[in-house]
Amino acid sequence: MTETIKLMKAHTSVRRFKEQEIPQADLDEILTAGQMASSWKNFQSYSVILVRSQEKKDALYELVPQEAIRQSAAFLLFVGDLNRAEKGASLHTDTFQPQGVEGLLITSVDAALAGQNTLLAAESLGYGGVIIGLVRYKSEEVAALFNLPDYTYPVFGIALGVPNQQHDVKPRLPLNQVVFEEEYQEQPVAAILDYDQEQADYAGARATTSWSQRLAEQFGQAEPSSTRKNLEQKKLL
Ligand SMILES: Cc1cc2nc3c(=O)[nH]c(=O)nc-3n(C[C@H](O)[C@H](O)[C@H](O)COP(=O)(O)O)c2cc1C
Repeated sequence: MTETIKLMKAHTSVRRFKEQEIPQADLDEILTAGQMASSWKNFQSYSVILVRSQEKKDALYELVPQEAIRQSAAFLLFVGDLNRAEKGASLHTDTFQPQGVEGLLITSVDAALAGQNTLLAAESLGYGGVIIGLVRYKSEEVAALFNLPDYTYPVFGIALGVPNQQHDVKPRLPLNQVVFEEEYQEQPVAAILDYDQEQADYAGARATTSWSQRLAEQFGQAEPSSTRKNLEQKKLL
């Protein structure tokens, strides 16, 4: 096994941090490594807002009450970004039409790949972190707090810092239920029940709801409205 694979297999999200800063040199390494992720047509359709002031972290925490945000040494807001694209395209065309599913997939996939690279780079230096997707549920307020212009939207954040907690690695679905040979294989409900049990065994006393209950909570109701409203305001839908 390589050191890289060892690191990847040891990943756990970290949500509690020591009161210790991340030196600028480490942040630079983490962010430039993150930036080397592949991107659609090399458009790099995302931006990152580095938040270090406690005031701004607290303001974000007021909107998105996740303890990791206010404890983090650095909070990175990953922004889906076609604002640069508008400026580049305007050199060659009067029509700019980024609205729709493709624009959202391009920006969110680019942001996600860069985000995962960033988190992994941080972990390789001994830091920990957690991705915070809940910023989307307050998209309009978060966009206002960070002064996001047209054609941009918050995709997720990453709270980073020196870990102050340690968890066992969370078990993933069995590989043969995720990776199929040659064609898709629909899974029986029994496989879901097995994983519910595995997750319950892992979580032990910390378990509140099962894995499939959380799926029901997420997908058993209409999507929260703020994400769509903000995308419409920013001319991406
Ligand atoms: C897109 C995305 C959004 C997430 N949002 C949150 C979040 O808002 N709050 C949180 O505590 N964890 C969040 N997570 C972390 C996941 O809960 C975590 O990765 C998952 O439970 C697997 O656990 P592990 O990372 O410890 O292996 C998010 C992860 C992803 C990929």
